[in-house]
Amino acid sequence: MSDAFQATTAVVTGSSSGIGRATAIALAKAGVERLVVHFCSNQDGASETADALRENGCEPVLVSADLSLPEGRQFLIDQAFDSLGLIQTWVNNAGADVLTGIAATLDFEAKLRCLLEVDVLGTILLSREVAERMVNQADQQSSQQPAAMVFVGWDQALQGMEGDAGQMFGPAKAAVMAFANSLAQSTGPQLRVNTIAPGWIRTSWGETTSDYWDQRAKGQALMERWGSVDDIAKAVLYAADPANTFLTAQTIQLNGGFNRRF
Ligand SMILES: NC(=O)c1ccc[n+]([C@@H]2O[C@H](COP(=O)([O-])OP(=O)(O)OC[C@H]3O[C@@H](n4cnc5c(N)ncnc54)[C@H](OP(=O)(O)O)[C@@H]3O)[C@@H](O)[C@H]2O)c1
Repeated sequence: MSDAFQATTAVVTGSSSGIGRATAIALAKAGVERLVVHFCSNQDGASETADALRENGCEPVLVSADLSLPEGRQFLIDQAFDSLGLIQTWVNNAGADVLTGIAATLDFEAKLRCLLEVDVLGTILLSREVAERMVNQADQQSSQQPAAMVFVGWDQALQGMEGDAGQMFGPAKAAVMAFANSLAQSTGPQLRVNTIAPGWIRTSWGETTSDYWDQRAKGQALMERWGSVDDIAKAVLYAADPANTFLTAQTIQLNGGFNRRF
């Protein structure tokens, strides 16, 4: 990453917790001055993120929107462009949590439908429109460096993983990753589009999971540990950094090196 992160505006979807919050804070620390903290229902979490941004000299704009709904997506787009004007960085991180809380009790089909509505349809329909507007902005500001959009995928989506989690997160995240590559083909050179595909990252599910999954998460990384939300935030910053003008249409697997010896 360059010494000075040149973008001053950013949007991070799903930044009320986990990877999204860490990414928002990392962007603020890097020098982003105004950032949309998008969330769905976790108002307290979004406020916590906003406080951390202010401590780092970044002005937060809180926007609540359910991205599975057309009106939610439109609301976020309108609020983001109205409040930030020129948007230089857009991170598509929001994703349904079907592993903890009440959603964990749903059957396979209901969980899959939720992931398809939020992670796949929500992300694709939202980011198509956002990308078009970011490209138009770039056309009007011909001296600007290309804007950046970053998606969050999953490292095992294409290689496959046994069980319900693999069978529902696999197709959902593979769709997002495939879409991101096609969006990059559609929007260069005005917009750079990249994907960070995390491995086992210790967020809410990882904090409370069984010994088996704890051992497996550590064992499947050559670095022999869980990934942290900060590990992913650093990679998102790398992909979003305006100085990286030659980086687009890439998927970076951030998993501590998948351990094939496990
Ligand atoms: N943790 C991992 O090991 C891992 C690995 C690979 C990929 N990922 C992906 O990384 C992303 C972040 O994961 P995380 O672990 O940080 O999860 P998280 O803490 O549960 O954060 C998910 C975020 O998405 C938002 N969200 C959920 N449903 C939404 C909806 N219908 N509309 C709008 N926003 C919605 C949540 O908002 P509210 O809470 O405010 O409702 C929250 O801000 C997800 O896309 C996830 O699939 C995670």
